[in-house]
Amino acid sequence: MEPFHHHVFVCTQDKPEGVTCCTGSGSWQVLRALERELLSQGLDNDVQLSTCGCLGLCEEGPILIAYPDGVWYHKLEVSDVPEIVSSHLRGGKVVARLAWTDAPAMKAMALEHRNHFRAILKARDHAGILPDDLNEMLRGFMSSRAVLTALELNAFTAVGSGASAEQVAQKIHADSRAAEILLNVLVSLKLLEKKDGIFHNTPASARFFCEGSPDNARPALLHTVNLWDRWSTLTDAVHAGTAVSSRSRDSEGVVSFIAAMDRNAKERAASVVTAVGPAGIRRMLDLGGGSGAYSIAFARAIPDLHSEILDLAEVVPLTQGHILEAGLSGRVTTRVGDMLRDPLGENYDLILVSAICHMFSVEENRSLFARAYRALAPGGRFVIQDFILEPDKTAPRFAALFALNMLVGTRSGSSYSEPEYTAWLRDAGFSEIRRVRLAGPAGLLLALRA
Ligand SMILES: C[S@@+](CC[C@H](N)C(=O)[O-])C[C@H]1O[C@@H](n2cnc3c(N)ncnc32)[C@H](O)[C@@H]1O
Ligand code: FES
Repeated sequence: MEPFHHHVFVCTQDKPEGVTCCTGSGSWQVLRALERELLSQGLDNDVQLSTCGCLGLCEEGPILIAYPDGVWYHKLEVSDVPEIVSSHLRGGKVVARLAWTDAPAMKAMALEHRNHFRAILKARDHAGILPDDLNEMLRGFMSSRAVLTALELNAFTAVGSGASAEQVAQKIHADSRAAEILLNVLVSLKLLEKKDGIFHNTPASARFFCEGSPDNARPALLHTVNLWDRWSTLTDAVHAGTAVSSRSRDSEGVVSFIAAMDRNAKERAASVVTAVGPAGIRRMLDLGGGSGAYSIAFARAIPDLHSEILDLAEVVPLTQGHILEAGLSGRVTTRVGDMLRDPLGENYDLILVSAICHMFSVEENRSLFARAYRALAPGGRFVIQDFILEPDKTAPRFAALFALNMLVGTRSGSSYSEPEYTAWLRDAGFSEIRRVRLAGPAGLLLALRA
């Protein structure tokens, strides 16, 4: 029994540069046009749209298959989409001029393609050639570095509503030959477009990388630029077993770090508040609260909550700015301090450590948990949000990579596993320890002071 009237597959297989494939022939554009057209013809709830991998008919792409009729359309263009939707998906009448009905030819082409592909793989394997996916992983830094440099130089803002390489070079005080090379790469990465020698921002770049856009993420993304410097010391850090970069964050670094934290936190805060639940929380302590996004979200959800944010001296003025902007200065307050050394206070109903534990060693976390236990009122809750590893510490990949991020950035921080957290919490006296899996790379651990 089909749950949808039609199920439509569009091949969106990408292939190495120079190899014919549906993506290269415009299948994503066809798919997007299909989404728009289904919506505008009121059919989006009747037609299930899916992408699919190579069907072996790459020379004939973009390919679209419409089920339950089993009609294969080929060589599609965006301009064909309204007719397919209105005639076939709405009216049940196949668009004969676009349908490919020569089944024996289709099968022969698909089989030939498959055999050819298998032969190539076998030959490459025989010759000991490095597989493409390994190559891509090894060279992945090139694209990343190109974008980070463009962000660092504010090149997207310089491109603005259209500029030549020379104009961009002048604005960002760069060499014009080098600027052109960089801008060309950004075009190849689909972050810019180029027409008649003039570079233009794509809608996404204009939205997320340019000054003046309300969604400009550049201030936060500059934190990733800073991470690059630290990651380039990884080899030495692995030798030394600890961070070797002696560079501490300057004030610009602190601003971009807190901006990056704020972006993440704002995205997740509502789901964290829901997972923890508001019941019984009047006094909250937000250790290393950063921008204050979590305290602000809890204060908005619980009208009589007072939250205190404890953070370092260089961060607290930024925290205060966010609190002021949220209009919550009366109920969200700040305290400058070192959570590892200074008294935490007492009688809290909730203590939150979000993105904190990975900065510290096992012993520092154990001690912090024990002190947090004593700072809670009976019945109070301790909430950890972090990148929590599976027991053998090899997954999720982001959490595993983040352990390296801490190796290059801290004295003895790391990502930790759920069994480690659970053991530390138990030893500190907590009970009813519960894991909540949230969307995204971080998860929660909730524990109770009985
Ligand atoms: C990764 S950020 C997390 C910010 C916030 N909790 C969040 O989830 O968005 C870590 C925060 O801990 C603060 N911090 C680091 N070491 C600290 C310490 N010893 N005492 C107090 N705050 C500290 C940093 O200044 C920063 O604001
Ligand atoms: S890439 Fe679409 S059929 Fe091969």
